[in-house]
Amino acid sequence: MKKSELPDPFGAARSEKGYGEINDQNDPVTMLLRHKDVRKSAYNYQTFTSAAVPGRIVVPSEVNIRNTRQIPFEVDPPVHGAYRAIVEPWFKRPLQPEYQEKLTAQISANVAEALQKGTVEVIEGFALPLQSRALTLLLHTPFAESETWISWGTHVFRSEGEALDGDKANILYEYIDRQIDRAIEKPGDDMYSVLLASEFEGRKLTKEEVKGVMVLTFAGGRDTVINAVTNSIAYLAEHPEALERFRKEPEIIGKAMEEFIRYFSPLTQMGRVVTEDTQVCEHAVKADSRISLCWASANRDAGVFENPNEIVLDRKMNPMWASVSAITTAWVQRMPARS
Ligand code: HEM
Repeated sequence: MKKSELPDPFGAARSEKGYGEINDQNDPVTMLLRHKDVRKSAYNYQTFTSAAVPGRIVVPSEVNIRNTRQIPFEVDPPVHGAYRAIVEPWFKRPLQPEYQEKLTAQISANVAEALQKGTVEVIEGFALPLQSRALTLLLHTPFAESETWISWGTHVFRSEGEALDGDKANILYEYIDRQIDRAIEKPGDDMYSVLLASEFEGRKLTKEEVKGVMVLTFAGGRDTVINAVTNSIAYLAEHPEALERFRKEPEIIGKAMEEFIRYFSPLTQMGRVVTEDTQVCEHAVKADSRISLCWASANRDAGVFENPNEIVLDRKMNPMWASVSAITTAWVQRMPARS
């Protein structure tokens, strides 16, 4: 089997019953596997809330390693919309031509560095530095900061043999606390300072809220991007004809990136907490239990995607499923709109 082939482990359960069950740290999760259920439940925040105890909607649960609420992700509408209005203009900067020029120059330098070395290990040696350096543009912080973030390794909450490593997570939290204190003392034009100066419901954002946005920015954009970049590179290494096609038809590159994200699903699933006794796929779920929106399964639903287990570089977007795809392909410049 090719390295870039990812078989769909959910196919049988998805068509037979529509859900799967896992026990995550004694807080079980009912995984929704069908596209239509994932889509419907993502919008039904009244029954499936994101505003649970911080860390509980994440699978594996992070309740034991953090108390800070990630903003706007662990908040429901209408408050979600108010927070989102603060961060959205900042996250839309990557759409500006000057930003794109800087990012392109940075990525070209990463590629040149890899080519010069001849051989490079793609995760730690290429994708991690690429992601960390690009994050300096998003945060508008000095390029040198990326060296610190690279030194943390590919995952901020995980270490060798430990799915959730509280000590490692503390390195990130303490780093962010120090940066917020620095920005309070000497405000500048970086993301910390801009957030600290932002108005929310007639008052300034608190330190804890700024921390919540920053933790999400660091954690949410890290292994997702690294997974997406490394899997796409594995595919292109095994399919030189795809690269040839990009050279001849550059207009399909955008669609191909969406397709890579559909196929590789860099974020497998995200949870919600059930607010009232209800049913999913004719299966009872109790109030205060957890469900998850399993993007990796929904993205292979044959009812929605023709030949779902194939990568079709110029796959056409169908407006019926664009909204879930838009959620799963959330990128710095277009995060999902739940509000
Ligand atoms: C291929 C890369 C990425 C994928 C697949 C991805 C996937 C997702 C998904 C599925 C959600 C929705 C979670 C939910 O509501 O349950 C989400 C939310 C979010 N992501 Fe990403 N993400 C990616 C990259 C990034 C990057 C680079 C950043 C920032 C540096 C980022 C920041 C966020 C934020 C702030 C939210 C919350 C949005 C809101 O609640 O309105 N993501 N992402």
